[in-house]
Amino acid sequence: MPNVNFNTKELTTNTGAPVISNEFSLRAGNRGPVLLEDYHLLEKLGQFNREKIPERVVHARGMGAKGFFEVTKDITDLSAAAFLKDVGKKCPVTARLSTVVHERGSPESLRDVRGFSVKFYTEEGNWDFVGNDIPVFFIRDGIQFVDLVHALRPNPKTNVQEGWRILDFLSHHPESVHILTWLLDDNGIPANWANMEGYGVNTFKLISAQGKENLCKFHVMPKEGAKFLTNEEAQTVGELNMRHSHATHDLYNRILEGNPPEWTWYVQTMPVDTDPADIGFDPLDDTKLWPEEQFPLKEFGRMVLDENIQNYYADVESIAFDPGVTVPGIAVSNDPVLQTRVLAYADTQRYRLGVNYQLLPVNMPKCPFHNNHMDGAMNYTIRDEEVNYWPSNVEKSGETQQPKYKDTFYSSEPISGQRVKEDLFVGDDYIQAGERIRSMDEGRKERFTTNVMGWMTDPKTTQDIREKWFAIWSKADADFGAMVKEKCSGEKAGHPAMAGATKA
Ligand code: HEM
Repeated sequence: MPNVNFNTKELTTNTGAPVISNEFSLRAGNRGPVLLEDYHLLEKLGQFNREKIPERVVHARGMGAKGFFEVTKDITDLSAAAFLKDVGKKCPVTARLSTVVHERGSPESLRDVRGFSVKFYTEEGNWDFVGNDIPVFFIRDGIQFVDLVHALRPNPKTNVQEGWRILDFLSHHPESVHILTWLLDDNGIPANWANMEGYGVNTFKLISAQGKENLCKFHVMPKEGAKFLTNEEAQTVGELNMRHSHATHDLYNRILEGNPPEWTWYVQTMPVDTDPADIGFDPLDDTKLWPEEQFPLKEFGRMVLDENIQNYYADVESIAFDPGVTVPGIAVSNDPVLQTRVLAYADTQRYRLGVNYQLLPVNMPKCPFHNNHMDGAMNYTIRDEEVNYWPSNVEKSGETQQPKYKDTFYSSEPISGQRVKEDLFVGDDYIQAGERIRSMDEGRKERFTTNVMGWMTDPKTTQDIREKWFAIWSKADADFGAMVKEKCSGEKAGHPAMAGATKA
């Protein structure tokens, strides 16, 4: 902890005054009232009353660990990032793994997308990788995110997550059928944090030292392989674990026992001038996978999480990831969801953690850094400076700008176009979902069907919503669509106005 003598054995207040008794408050006589002059009591209660900060609006439930990233294969032809320079080069990281929709104290065994975030403390500043465990997303325009999350969250009236609301909203976004073939498949409940896959989901750009740009997608694969829980296993695991924290226990204990989890990092690339019409989908559309036969995975590193967090609040609750936080050699693309994300994260973090959140130890870069941002709540940097502006005629520690990075930090792709509010090039929203359904073996398809039916037969799913989904499932796979329709035919369709919460 910087600049703090937080180390005496004698109890004190935060002002350093001695604590006479931590057991009894100051009272006027043995049976008299408590006195307001008991500063220690007031401080203790006041601190306690403010212990909780707002939970993340999404990804509230999570666990973290520290470790390192090591370059295993040279990709300097693709990226100028200094931390990727030499095979064998290591960079410290902190990772946070999370569920998405449910609250801070919710079970880790629930069906949900999972977050996979890693902060790389590089010599050119931090790189935040902020991915998920499923490679595609529900929507392809960030403006829809708020409605998506409202639909996924509990019903505002019953406070229960309800399948009909999710199906209702997503019926207007048939591009979401692809992610549903992951979320309602075995992938929907990862067994733990250590056996979880990570995907950047959104499309980024790699920029080489020569200024050559490629679109790219990141993939992170657990060395031990991905593992999932069936609904029944998840129920047992959830019930058996105190505070429903089986994945947290698993990660912490693995590291403690010297069996740290490891992941291999890959990247897929695509020329920036690829015409969406030639490949049947838009590379800026995050509801689509890039077929690996066409866009092979290139390995470039490994990550080992071999150090447990010291303190949950400081290392996990206070960590702030932002996909806009990049280093020279890695840039954002025009992917509309990514562009929206770049606006959202710092905004919420200034609210959630306060304006100086980047100065918190877990967020602070490990390379030297300096600027003229000033003061603000809880700014504990002590700056012995008289010139807090730039430029200045007064020599102050040789402060300079860094134009040498201009061609590798920002994309040089020209921007033009009329103002439009419209969908990306759509291509086909159903092919990849259909391929996935057809690739499932019998057992897997049965489990998937059970989960699909759970939502389709939610007592509040109306016939109208069902009909829309019969059409969507059928476009993905005609046989599957027909089967879902057939299975629904014996089930009474519901109405959202029906009283009471629906089944989970
Ligand atoms: C967390 C917004 C899409 C992955 C968050 C947070 C916000 C947010 C506000 C909370 C951040 C915090 O409190 O620190 C958005 C918006 C999106 C979007 C507006 C779409 C426009 C996505 C996508 C992914 C993703 C597509 C996957 C690639 C994550 C992860 C976290 C997160 C992993 C948790 C970070 C952590 O562990 O602290 N998002 N998000 N989000 N988001 Fe997104």
